[in-house]
Amino acid sequence: MDYVKLERGEDGVAVLTIDRQEKLNALNPQVTEEIGQALLDVEREEPRAIIVTGAGERSFVAGADISAMNEMLPLEAKRFAEIGHAAMALLDRSPVPTIAAVNGFALGGGCELALACDIRIAAENALFGFPEVGLGILPGMGGTQRLPRLIGPALAKELIFSGRRIDAAEAKEIGLINRVVAQGEALNAARELAAEIAANGPVAVRHAKTATNRAPDVDLISGLEYEADQFALLFATEDAREGMGAFAEKRKPQFKGQ
Ligand code: COA
Repeated sequence: MDYVKLERGEDGVAVLTIDRQEKLNALNPQVTEEIGQALLDVEREEPRAIIVTGAGERSFVAGADISAMNEMLPLEAKRFAEIGHAAMALLDRSPVPTIAAVNGFALGGGCELALACDIRIAAENALFGFPEVGLGILPGMGGTQRLPRLIGPALAKELIFSGRRIDAAEAKEIGLINRVVAQGEALNAARELAAEIAANGPVAVRHAKTATNRAPDVDLISGLEYEADQFALLFATEDAREGMGAFAEKRKPQFKGQ
């Protein structure tokens, strides 16, 4: 791969880095396909968590590649959006917890990439925004759907219609991100959180993500029924016996992911 690097840690935490620094890590079709391919590759290895970040301190991802989009006909644009949707779905629909470590510009497609992750940690120099309407287009990698679900329709519409950029502090205030850390610390903070996640029962974490993902999509009764089924299913795992047994024996659990 030319623009996407995957690093696998011994703790089961994978870091996916988008590295196209000369264009502030902008997503052209190739970069977007590589993100999807890298996620497919790494997911097969059942990592405990996946961190997504951008190379360098200046930019997470400065959006979809405007020069590439300027050449696209409608069907090519549709295909580009679909490749983007497929890659983003691998982040939020997969059972593996995903964390965006946002280090600078997260504009347009960059903000959408962060939105597709379960958790967003941003450095204080991060800038978020949806500049698309200023280019005569609209957010095409999930922004119109994921943003209102996360921060509510009124604030989402304000950001999408105005194209206004917001800093990390404002993004935190409106619930767009989980936390703000010092410049240069987003990846470290994401690694620390991923290590906390990785120390827990891996099957339990995967099922917890799947159950939590249902919340915005189904009615409460169906959601609770699903939760009860997932809860019951985990009682068939060795990890549940190990986790509860270790508590009784006052020791640390040794999870096997079974
Ligand atoms: N698509 C294509 N190229 C991009 C890009 C994008 N989304 N964002 C940045 N780049 C390129 C610039 O064209 C420039 O390339 P060049 O050196 O060959 O001219 C390079 O990255 C560096 O960007 P530059 O604009 O010189 O940096 P800056 O610090 O002055 O400004 C931004 C940074 C992010 C404010 C500015 O690049 C920008 O507005 N980018 C577009 C953001 C956007 O609209 N994204 C949503 C697209 S849907």
